[in-house]
Amino acid sequence: MPSLPRRRLLASGLAAAALWPGLAGVRAARFTHDPFTLGVASGCPTPEGVVLWTRLTFPEPPAPANPFAVVQAAPLPPMDLLWEVAEDEGFGRVVRQGVVRAVEAFAHSAHVAVTGLRPDRWYFYRFRAGEALSPTGRTRTAPAGDVDPGRFRFAFAACQQYEQGYYAALRDMAQRDPDLIVHLGDYIYEMSYGAGHVRSHGTGNPTTLREYRDRYALYKSDPDLQAAHAAAPWLVIWDDHEVINNYHGEEAPGVTDGPGFLRQRAAAYQACYEHMPVPPHAGGDFARFRIHGQHRFGTLLDITLLDSRQYRTPPQAGGAGRSYLGAEQEAWLDRSLQQSHARWSVIAQQTLLSERDLEAGSATRYSGDTWDGYRAARGRLLDSVQRAGLANPLVIGGDLHAFYAAEVKRDFAAPDAPVLATEFVTGSITSNPPSARAMATVAAENPHLKFASGGQHGYAMAELGRGQAQVDFIAVSDRRDPAATARVAQSFAVLNGRPGVNRL
Ligand SMILES: [Fe+2]
Repeated sequence: MPSLPRRRLLASGLAAAALWPGLAGVRAARFTHDPFTLGVASGCPTPEGVVLWTRLTFPEPPAPANPFAVVQAAPLPPMDLLWEVAEDEGFGRVVRQGVVRAVEAFAHSAHVAVTGLRPDRWYFYRFRAGEALSPTGRTRTAPAGDVDPGRFRFAFAACQQYEQGYYAALRDMAQRDPDLIVHLGDYIYEMSYGAGHVRSHGTGNPTTLREYRDRYALYKSDPDLQAAHAAAPWLVIWDDHEVINNYHGEEAPGVTDGPGFLRQRAAAYQACYEHMPVPPHAGGDFARFRIHGQHRFGTLLDITLLDSRQYRTPPQAGGAGRSYLGAEQEAWLDRSLQQSHARWSVIAQQTLLSERDLEAGSATRYSGDTWDGYRAARGRLLDSVQRAGLANPLVIGGDLHAFYAAEVKRDFAAPDAPVLATEFVTGSITSNPPSARAMATVAAENPHLKFASGGQHGYAMAELGRGQAQVDFIAVSDRRDPAATARVAQSFAVLNGRPGVNRL
């Protein structure tokens, strides 16, 4: 994906006004290229509405014949996009429409919080900029708050390093028609690693806003990723690679320029905002950017999204001061879980909540980057889960590039300790897996990990019903094959009122 601007367009309000009478004064544009190369997306569904997203792109100007010529690119003007939401794919029954202004300060991204829709139904949406028409996306509102839809299916995914594979898993996800897609982070990778890449970032690690934008744009140029976005609304949280590997809060390993890192983090957060179907941002800087939140789907389920990166203290920080979520988010989580009365309470976080001993034999070794590095914080989360008296807590995660199904306990060393929640971690879409030997050790050392499988790539599909939840781990035949197929590798059931992993 060439990096942004510049510029072959003529401002013209006439084209838009002619297409949709009544929208005179709209500042549209006439394009000589397709400005919708990054596709469309929707997210954050409520019973009344959904957020729509797109971003206009512009081709690079041809390189000047004289390589020493100074080319001063003019800024791109604001552009008005028309958006419409219809009940049918042919847009014969448009139920909402409007205009959203895309500005260069946000990379000409558009975020529209549509309201006035009916609960629990599919809609189609698209954008128009001048005469250019976006692809059509499909989205779905949430069931009304007091309604039990009886059944709800959502896919969850993580870790899609672009160079290490193709996105057949995302294509398959779109084809299986979920009601919702939850992305748990490592949507982009800032770094290249591993060998034998199937494609290339083409540039080094991003540090500036423009470089993070270009990285997102590269990933979002992938047609299978676009298909997954166009298939259903998404909820998204990030992990570390959206900024820098293994960063924690306001610091990153090996980075000594603190203010410089905070500027870089803000640039990465802004680029994330500009490429995700999240509610319109009021403006201002991205020194902080809230992604945690609770989303309800009738009385059947709610999904609580956590951010274990932005507010985290360093793993070496001492005792009581060590925090994975930050004090504010922890207090918010406690209140939010108290308000969770759904049959299934899904807690969506970045990694594995359960303990994971990485060392064979009687010795133990734990990752400092996961909840194992923040045991007191894990205890407080379990306090909140228990205090809330959730009917069926389900924890989902990613990050580890391997599939896990686990039984969450207060004391993982005690075989008879009660199971407090059931946990499923999805493998990576493409990112390199741990070694078979490491996986064998983990499986042998951790009896509460009822399933542990590396070496496969794909995603998970959860189908929630009244009597049980079923979770399928879906694996692709070969991440390096753009035409790879996918199949259900392993299915599990969780019975209503009985936390625990049941292999099907
Ligand atoms: Fe990852």
